[in-house]
Amino acid sequence: MGRLDGKVALITGIGGGMGRHAALRFAAEGAQVVGCDLYPEGAEETVELVRAAGGEITNFAPVNLANADESHTWIDSAAAVHGKVDILYNNASHPKFGPVDELSVEDWDYVMDNELNLVFYACKFAWPHLKKSHGVIVNVGSIAGTRGVEFMPQNAHGTAKAGVINLTQQLAVEGGKHKIRVVCVSPGFTVTPSTAWLVESGPQPFKDNIARIPLGRVGQPEDVVNAALFLASDEASWITGVNLVVDGGGSVLG
Ligand SMILES: NC(=O)c1ccc[n+]([C@@H]2O[C@H](COP(=O)([O-])OP(=O)(O)OC[C@H]3O[C@@H](n4cnc5c(N)ncnc54)[C@H](O)[C@@H]3O)[C@@H](O)[C@H]2O)c1
Repeated sequence: MGRLDGKVALITGIGGGMGRHAALRFAAEGAQVVGCDLYPEGAEETVELVRAAGGEITNFAPVNLANADESHTWIDSAAAVHGKVDILYNNASHPKFGPVDELSVEDWDYVMDNELNLVFYACKFAWPHLKKSHGVIVNVGSIAGTRGVEFMPQNAHGTAKAGVINLTQQLAVEGGKHKIRVVCVSPGFTVTPSTAWLVESGPQPFKDNIARIPLGRVGQPEDVVNAALFLASDEASWITGVNLVVDGGGSVLG
């Protein structure tokens, strides 16, 4: 018995990083995974990996989730193919960074579109399906959403992730009467293809920061996906509105 047997799980950003791990793990736990990504090549690689491991997956890439119409079409198509949506896992995100006086207005808007608005669109369009299934939304926030840091000018990224965390809380309230749960997982620094370079050649203040993580290491994708799996499963059926921080204790440092 898998922990997600019989569930249809929509996972965004399966082209690499944590989204790929999520697709592999959720499928291994019995879910029928429906993935998408902006880039079809990485998503197709994930499809091959999932199927080689004996899992079930459908891929709708390319989908630009920052475009409301494309998000809507993806979700309704997934529901039409599989008959329902039980889980929406909002993993996909794409940040830009820059000091406030240098970050352009266009880059700020880009970050809001690709880190916050895409989460709202997917939640909004999945909502009617989740009302029928009494389903769950797992959003991916970040510890960047609850603090400032010296080592990275993450004003737009942190603001967007704070929005994801608060959207989670509000939708948990709105979803209660429909038996929809809405939860958030907030990773600390996690090694993925987008971030691995920081471990080797990141700025010294960043290296100092990760060296102080109480549990003595940076995150791996499975650390985050394990938390998301628990929250997505029926084991968490009385948990909603939570922001589960998965960071080895890094964000509680003074
Ligand atoms: N890696 C970390 O240290 C870390 C820390 C905190 C939070 N997070 C969050 O975890 C999640 C996964 O992080 P990751 O490091 O695996 O990221 P990643 O960059 O490796 O993968 C993100 C995937 O999302 C896709 N994507 C981005 N924008 C998209 C769009 N508009 N439409 C469709 N697909 C899109 C990308 O193509 C990519 O395949 C993100 O939400 C990220 O903000 C990561």
